[in-house]
Order: sequence, then C-alpha cells, then structure tokens
Amino acid sequence: MKIAMIGTGYVGLVSGVCFSDFGHDVVCVDKDPDKVERLRRGEVPIFEPGLEDLMAKNVAAGRLSFTLDLSEAVAGAGAVFIAVGTPTRRGDGHADLTYVMAAAAEIGQALQGYAVVVTKSTVPVGTNRKVAEAIRAANPDAEFDVASNPEFLREGAAIDDFMRPDRVVVGIERPRARKVMAEVYRPLFLREFPVVYTDLESAEMIKYAANAFLAVKITFINEIAALCERVGADIKDVSKGMGMDGRIGNKFLHAGPGYGGSCFPKDTRALARIGQDNAVPMQITETVIKVNDEIKRRMIGKIEDLCDGVLRDKVIAVLGVTFKPNTDDMREAPSLTIVPALVGAGAKVRVVDPEGQREGEALLPGVKWIETPYQAAQGADLVVILTEWNEFRAMDLERLGRKMATARMADLRNVYDRDEVMGAGFEAYVGVGR
Ligand code: UDX
Repeated sequence: MKIAMIGTGYVGLVSGVCFSDFGHDVVCVDKDPDKVERLRRGEVPIFEPGLEDLMAKNVAAGRLSFTLDLSEAVAGAGAVFIAVGTPTRRGDGHADLTYVMAAAAEIGQALQGYAVVVTKSTVPVGTNRKVAEAIRAANPDAEFDVASNPEFLREGAAIDDFMRPDRVVVGIERPRARKVMAEVYRPLFLREFPVVYTDLESAEMIKYAANAFLAVKITFINEIAALCERVGADIKDVSKGMGMDGRIGNKFLHAGPGYGGSCFPKDTRALARIGQDNAVPMQITETVIKVNDEIKRRMIGKIEDLCDGVLRDKVIAVLGVTFKPNTDDMREAPSLTIVPALVGAGAKVRVVDPEGQREGEALLPGVKWIETPYQAAQGADLVVILTEWNEFRAMDLERLGRKMATARMADLRNVYDRDEVMGAGFEAYVGVGR
C-alpha cells in the first residue's frame, strides 16, 4: 500500500521508516526544505538508536522517499497519516491544532481516490471529527474516512516500540476504514500483537489517559520517595516490594528528579484542560502537574544541602541533561529547572551529556560543556547524576573521587548505592528516597 506521512518530526519519521520496513511504499512530507534535503541525503535530524540504518535500508529498497510536495505524496495513497506537532498553546494549556487543521485542509485538496486520513498526532477528544470537517470543507467530493491512531513510542526505544507494541489502538467509524487500517498493520497482526479497534473518541481518550496514568505512577513514587527520606525507608526496596504485586507492576516506579519529555508534560496539561472545558476537572492529573514541578525543585535543595547550604562558587559537575538517556531531546527536562537554579545561585556548572550539547547549549547558558565525567570532576566540589546514561552507570568511582576537590555525589537517579560510593572514598552521598 502507498502511505503518505505528513510531518517528519519524531513520530512521523519513526512511523514512516517503520511502515516502509513493513513493506509499504511510504512518502514522507515536510514543509522545511532543508530538512527534506537532509533526509534525502540520508541524514537523520534526531538521535534515535537504529533509525538511521533502518531508514537507509528502506530508501535503498525504493520503499521510502521524502518530498516537499504534499499532493504528490497523497495521490494514490491508501492511508494518509497526519503526524505534525501539537505543542502546548501559549497561555491556556490547550494542544495547538493549527498544524493539524492546516494539514487536513491540504490533504482534502490533494485527495483523489478513497483514502483513510489517520491522525497520529496527540489531539484532544473530538479533533478527528474536526479533521473530517476540514477535509470536507476543502473538497466536498472527497472520498475518505478518518481514523485515530495514537502513538505510544518511547524516545530511545521507538523502533522497538513500533515493531513490538503492547497494543495498537485504532479509532474508526466504518468497516471500510478498518479494512485499510488492518492492511497497514498486517505485519503486526500476523505476529499476534493486539490491535484494539474503538470509536474515534475512545482512541483519542486512550492516549491521554495512558500517558496521564504513567505520569501519575512516576509522580506517586517520587512523592513516596520524599517521605521515605524522612522516615528512614529505602525507595528502591519499596518500589520493588510494590511492583511485585501484579496489579501494580514494576515499571515506571523508578524515583528520580521528576518526569520530562515531549509527551507527559504536554499531555497532562492538555488533559487537565479538556477536563476543565467539560466541567469534569481532572483533579488527580492537575495535582500531578503541580507535584512534578515541586519534585524538580526539591532536587535543588538536595544539591544545596550537599554543598553545606552555599552554592556560590561551588564547582558542580552535572552528568546528563537530556530528559532521559538515549535521546538528544531536552524538552521539559528536569535539568532545565535545576541547572539554571545552580548557575543563578553562583555555582560554576560543568555539564557532560553524550547527546545533549547540540540542543542544550542554547537552553543552558552559563555552563561549560565537558567531554567526560572524569574531566568534569577535576577540582569539582560535587558530582550530580541527573540522567542515567549508560556512560554514567559504571564509572570508576575511585578515579572520579580522587579528581575532585571534595568528593560528594548527588545521585538523582539512584544509579549507585551509598556503600559503594562511600567505599570508593567519597565523603558524602545522597540519592533519592533513601
Ligand atoms: C512517553 C511514553 O512512555 C510513551 O508511551 C508516549 O507515547 C510518549 O511519552 P517518553 O517521553 O519517550 O515516552 O519517555 P518515558 O520513557 O516514558 O519517560 C518519560 C519521563 O519519565 C522521563 O523524564 C523519565 O526519566 C521519567 N521516568 C520514567 C521516571 O522518572 N521514572 C520512571 O520510572 C519512568
């Protein structure tokens, strides 16, 4: 089947490449000429393990191409995916649908035969119907159905998530659209990954509910972690003991400096907004948004305590600034709250991140970017582990500590154990929730 993918951001590019690997003919469209040019040269604009190779393989096989021309991509396509951005609208927390609606109108004008227009972007409940209206307004004769097909890709593991999903959610209204969507996802269906068919509104809701629930889970454990510190319990054991209950599950119970990224912050805000608009306030979600902000700020206090209450002129080596490992994405990363606070208080901050510098340089003014943890530790008063990159998980702690002026560690991802760090000659260690 020919598939058009509108938007080559994170979701669009990963989905387009993976669909071509399923054997479909995929044409990816973007409005940015530089981006399309780079993609045509085989350059991947984001850091995602495995993506570049998979893209090259499918371009070479003639199944994947990139264009600026939306009508060329849409002509003859059986499915047209909308995967453009839905950022938080300034001021009110709503998802900004400008790009989605503009894409819908353009698709309407370009449609020739029957096609299913599928929204992959995360959009508020009711948007798919608006997409259908926009297409109809642009082209009253168009023959099409709309479908909602939210994505659940984790950055850094996106290809695996696409190829081995827990489930695929498809919201549709008519059997004809279901047939097309079944063909799109046939390879997964054959391998018995479940596809859940629902109406449009339920599919839209599943995405928000799933992401908000995960944000609740993380925030819950982060709040319990703060209490553990006060009562002398260890959050790692608490998470383990809780997670063994099959009804709870052990995933997303790692305490840390608060969630960030391109989805949880944006989607929780949007869900809260949808609740307010429908006079059903999402009180749990609203609280989670507030508590997550407090958790990020709580980390600043921990660092300050380790510096005996004085941050001015302290040399601090921050390891990891992306919102999680295996990505170069800095969106809503806890580092964006924590690092500026340290710099603002007069600390001399050095930053090490395997992929974060390109994005991070403009976002974190006043810091020094350093290649390795050992270089950053030279003469430092404190090391802070903020993102658990593999590079920081098995450091030679004795070597690290020897280089420091005062060997102290704030391990905000609980990568190490206190005994291990103190045994390597550190004079102070603090984790999260222990
Ligand atoms: C998430 C969802 O997992 C995915 O299904 C959705 O479609 C997009 O949003 P992503 O943002 O890539 O994916 O990252 P994820 O691995 O879910 O982590 C999100 C944030 O939560 C990160 O900041 C991470 O560090 C944090 N986190 C996650 C924790 O602090 N503790 C955990 O136990 C899990």
